[in-house]
Amino acid sequence: MKTMDFCSLFVLLVISSMLKTSYSCNLARSCKHIYEGSLNPVTGEYQLCTLTGIRFDVFCDFYDGHGYTFVSREGLGVLRDLSQLFTDRSHVLVRIRQTDGVQKDVEIAPHSAFKHRYPISFQLSQAVGYSVPVNTAMEPYIYLGFLPESYARSRTTQGYQAAGEDITFTNCDSNPTSYLAFFANPYNLPPNDFYKRCCMSRVVDTWINKTTDTSSSRFLPENYLYYFEMSMGGCGGYVSTDSFPMVSGAAVGFRFDL
Ligand SMILES: *[C@@H]1O[C@H](CO)[C@@H](O)[C@H](O)[C@H]1NC(C)=O
Repeated sequence: MKTMDFCSLFVLLVISSMLKTSYSCNLARSCKHIYEGSLNPVTGEYQLCTLTGIRFDVFCDFYDGHGYTFVSREGLGVLRDLSQLFTDRSHVLVRIRQTDGVQKDVEIAPHSAFKHRYPISFQLSQAVGYSVPVNTAMEPYIYLGFLPESYARSRTTQGYQAAGEDITFTNCDSNPTSYLAFFANPYNLPPNDFYKRCCMSRVVDTWINKTTDTSSSRFLPENYLYYFEMSMGGCGGYVSTDSFPMVSGAAVGFRFDL
């Protein structure tokens, strides 16, 4: 009898702690839910709940029929995965901020030769199957993997797509990097300067040149702008925020369809 009592007490405690978790945050789980639950949804900042009931800040960028979710740097620290942020992985919207305050957008997608075989891999603070970035000390980070190491290691034609244009190079030495990564850098660490003096190229600067002005009503607040780096295999190139004197940060918007 005593054992039974102890057991039921334990079960009760477990149940009540589960209830507590699921009721501690009753906000929407996604920008899509916010749009659907509002009579007049407006692009801007909102709070969402993680699947485990923690609040975090996002910027919901609404368009006709779709939108993009940008997650704040602090918000990235409470997420366990990125699955709440998107419904469509065919492309992402990258928004850069220039030092003059202007913000600009570009759609980034897989190279058309690979889009069916390798959709972009969305990962949070890891790069499973893909090359690990240089600035991992600035984690948490959002990792966009274009080609997995198993493929990128070959001396083949590789690349990605920016604003609908394929950006192509031939991997010259089997270096298997093929990614764009965004670092929250909560402790403001200095970047790893291993690549500081090299690797600017047409392959890794074209996406910046293809950005176009976005309306000021869509400008992201400071805490949504990340340090970024891009690396493209042997002879593709490497750049980070510091490679572009005109750019002071970038953010990645994950697409959802309405
Ligand atoms: C991008 O713009 C920079 C600065 O204007 C220029 O030096 C570079 O050649 C451009 N790259 C491409 C691929 O057009």
